[in-house]
Amino acid sequence: MALKITVIGTGYLGATHAAAMAELGFEVLGLDVVPEKIEMLSAGRVPMYEPGLEELLAKHVAGIEGSSGRLRFTTSWEEVGAFGDVHFVCVNTPQKHGEYACDMSYVDAAFASLAGVVREGALVVGKSTVPVGSAERLAQLLPEGVELAWNPEFLREGFAVNDTLHPDRIVVGVRGERAEKTLREVYAVPVGEGSPFVVTDFPTAELVKTSANSFLATKISFINAMAEVCEAAGGDVAKLAEAIGHDDRIGAKFLRAGIGFGGGCLPKDIRAFMARAGELGADQALTFLREIDSINMRRRGQMVEMAREALGGSTFLGRRVAVLGATFKPDSDDVRDSPALNVAGQIHLQGGQVTVYDPKGMENARRVFPTLGYADSALEAVRGADVVLHLTEWREFRELDPAELAAVASSRVILDGRNALDGERWRTAGWTYRAMGRPTA
Ligand code: UDX
Repeated sequence: MALKITVIGTGYLGATHAAAMAELGFEVLGLDVVPEKIEMLSAGRVPMYEPGLEELLAKHVAGIEGSSGRLRFTTSWEEVGAFGDVHFVCVNTPQKHGEYACDMSYVDAAFASLAGVVREGALVVGKSTVPVGSAERLAQLLPEGVELAWNPEFLREGFAVNDTLHPDRIVVGVRGERAEKTLREVYAVPVGEGSPFVVTDFPTAELVKTSANSFLATKISFINAMAEVCEAAGGDVAKLAEAIGHDDRIGAKFLRAGIGFGGGCLPKDIRAFMARAGELGADQALTFLREIDSINMRRRGQMVEMAREALGGSTFLGRRVAVLGATFKPDSDDVRDSPALNVAGQIHLQGGQVTVYDPKGMENARRVFPTLGYADSALEAVRGADVVLHLTEWREFRELDPAELAAVASSRVILDGRNALDGERWRTAGWTYRAMGRPTA
């Protein structure tokens, strides 16, 4: 009989994983402790913007016309325990307040609840990003006869559905053959389509996730460090990235210089990794990550300085600044540790009159930063602006008509914090276009 799957925690990771498991043909029960989320999901709606996710959910949620009916949601742990052969734990591990370490309280609470209801013979699979050593500890909480596996998730926001259904690798940390066999059954379809299946122990599986994110953060900060040197030397970091990217040992991806990385993963993961290495007495191995973090944070300040310079160099007081983009990346409504919102906030706190527009992130941005000005369109944000900052590279912004914006802006200066606009198009329409790490034409 086909395995029955539960997914605990229905954030980005859990909601996507639950829908993907239903798409693969399994009966799935998702659990969250927040009743409003369960209500929304049960109606086929997702509490965040993620392309394709709502459609996939509606295709499977029980009670929706024409759905497969394979996907249901609940707040009941008893139901989860009775239902599941395999339980995926997908709760989040945010950065602790005032500390580098990550907050394990949601994971711990999920394991404690699950331990009380899980059936003998079931498999519990951790997917949350955790400090190395957690799986070993959490395994002790589970009753006799219940195995644990660790199966980190590498999905990117904005591509979550595709990354989950067609992962570029599946990593499983296991202790016994039974867990491996069960997970091979769960992932038979993507493995059959060519996704590599890497079997390892608990600590390695946990480390694969944090080291992958550290590597990505390092790549971005590396190119941003090159951007700083280009700025000093009059070089062009975009050309430099293109040229070094042709070397396939380096690779062209993740070499976009700009205001740096943000979001709910890379910043907190490298910090939690440093904190954990310190506990293990291996802090020296990761001191370079402190530099990666500091290069990254410095970019935000440099963008603020570029804006100040564009306004004549002294103060933001009384000056109108249009900010295009609030989310930490395009195709997401996520503003967690968003470089765009951080830059907007810094300028606002220095007395600038900031007006932000973002295609999907307005609601979240307003919630976390209610004192900024907000406009309903790029055109409205730019109206009367003394300088325009392009801080999240949405397609909508690449498709803007520079001439139309020129007609409403107070002065025609645009600073591209993402190196993503066609500078020539803007210059032709009469704008002064500047990008980070590139010479001013
Ligand atoms: C990341 C990892 O990519 C993913 O594998 C992991 O599971 C979770 O963390 P995500 O946070 O969705 O995913 O975003 P990602 O696409 O990695 O971008 C992170 C940040 O880096 C964004 O702020 C983005 O704008 C920035 N970035 C990315 C750059 O500044 N330059 C680049 O070249 C690439």
